[in-house]
Amino acid sequence: MTCRPDSTFSLVSPHISDHRLSSTDTPLKLGILASGNGSNFEAVAQAIENGQINAQIPVLIYNNPGAKAATRAVKRGIESVLLNHREYKNREALDQQIVQTLRQYDVDLVILAGWMRLVTSVLIDAFPNRIINIHPSLLPSFKGLHAVEQALQAKVTITGCTVHLVCLEVDSGPILIQAAVPVFPEDTPETLHARIQVQEHRILAQGIAIAASQLHTSLTPS
Ligand code: GRF
Repeated sequence: MTCRPDSTFSLVSPHISDHRLSSTDTPLKLGILASGNGSNFEAVAQAIENGQINAQIPVLIYNNPGAKAATRAVKRGIESVLLNHREYKNREALDQQIVQTLRQYDVDLVILAGWMRLVTSVLIDAFPNRIINIHPSLLPSFKGLHAVEQALQAKVTITGCTVHLVCLEVDSGPILIQAAVPVFPEDTPETLHARIQVQEHRILAQGIAIAASQLHTSLTPS
């Protein structure tokens, strides 16, 4: 007989019972960058609506015309700005425009929620320790593109997702929170990614709350 956890099994660490931002704090302004579907963007917007995090999203930046993320923004009344990378001479030029836009909206934290572009020091230096990424693996395993396929190829039996601070090296900054899920023998990239995404939608807002509390600590005079 094969014993295996059911497909909803997950483990989230660190465990956060109530990591809400204090309601007396000013809402944190999140600038979200997304390239495609935008389900993680939507999950953050929903967490704000549910009162899980005391934040607001003044702007969504997207780089692909027709990205579903932009449609989601319109439906929620969130402003969106298209910065099409094809119109910039290099990555730095795009990042300069991103920084300018984020400053225009007075953003506190930058969230890469399915942002499929490599970021440069132009963006990282403008928002030190204030850029968060979500990646569909348990880092440091399976960095870079096709993380779900990499996990299947490696025949791991557990994988998951990671919310981390962004540094220049891809998928390598300090880890804020992770969630683990089982991998089943019959999994395809689609079924496994769907299982991971359920957890992504839980932990992204929690990772934002952790980053915000760390920022608050480092900004508070001792
Ligand atoms: C997610 O799996 C995320 O981990 C990765 O890109 C995907 C974006 O999904 N960086 P969505 O656009 O938020 O639905």
